[in-house]
Amino acid sequence: MNAPDQYGVVGHPISHSWSPFIHGLFAKQTDQSLVYRLYDITPENFRVQVLEFFTRGGRGLNVTVPHKEAAAELANELTARADRAGAVNTLVLHEDNSLLGDNTDGFGLVTDLSKNLGLTVSHQRVLILGAGGATRGVIEPLLGMEPAEVVIANRTAERAINLASLFADLGAVRGCGFEDVGDEPFEVVINATAAGLSGAVPNVSPGVIGDHTVCYDMSYSKSATPFVTWAIERGCARAHKGWGMLVEQAAESFTLWRGIRPDTGPVLAALGMK
Ligand code: ATR
Repeated sequence: MNAPDQYGVVGHPISHSWSPFIHGLFAKQTDQSLVYRLYDITPENFRVQVLEFFTRGGRGLNVTVPHKEAAAELANELTARADRAGAVNTLVLHEDNSLLGDNTDGFGLVTDLSKNLGLTVSHQRVLILGAGGATRGVIEPLLGMEPAEVVIANRTAERAINLASLFADLGAVRGCGFEDVGDEPFEVVINATAAGLSGAVPNVSPGVIGDHTVCYDMSYSKSATPFVTWAIERGCARAHKGWGMLVEQAAESFTLWRGIRPDTGPVLAALGMK
């Protein structure tokens, strides 16, 4: 019998990752012979160790914080969406040993919002908090949902303004500091900051949340995240953690690697999301 194909996720830190669990369920469901492991690699060693993984027969990697930009530089070729995002979360080894970089994060978010959570974003105002790599990866697909406007608000206003200008050709998007968001409620508020890692919530006016606002935290944890707790306390219609985005981006990566699309429903159910 042939050895199973090797996949994994590289990040630093990485021990908290649920990706091996998710890809393990996808492999079982679709009858694919593969293993999926965690690789804790520091930024200094990223290039050498990733190339070593592929030289030793590895077939594909997911890439997470803090390596997504480095992965975009490492790839020989980028998909259009990864190029636009300037970040790669999926590496695929081609037959000719070249590496393709893709970004499935935006697909994951949009699929979770529309398919799993039943949200219609078209003609609605969307606020996204944060202007780092997490935001970069999702702006293009969010604009593709044809919202009335996407406002990117960040602690450091300049980063949000610069990021918005990179996507201005794709739709109505503007960047600003938290203090310039205003007090009008948005229909959708997405947290893409790293504030939750230190137990904090972005310092934005509570007025952005009304009783019809749907809140979404791109972070996930088994307990409530600080942003979800904050949003519920402020009376939002509902608030979701990023589990669905995690599972949907994983399914898109799996499809790229194996040519077969897994059903995300049973995996969401196993995680208690359905
Ligand atoms: P990632 O790739 O995860 O997005 P990043 O590029 O370091 O990581 O970006 C982190 C984001 O979280 C940034 O938007 C950062 O704001 P600044 O650009 O002002 O640094 C935001 N962030 C981190 N801690 C925060 C906090 N305590 N409150 C608000 N925003 C925070």
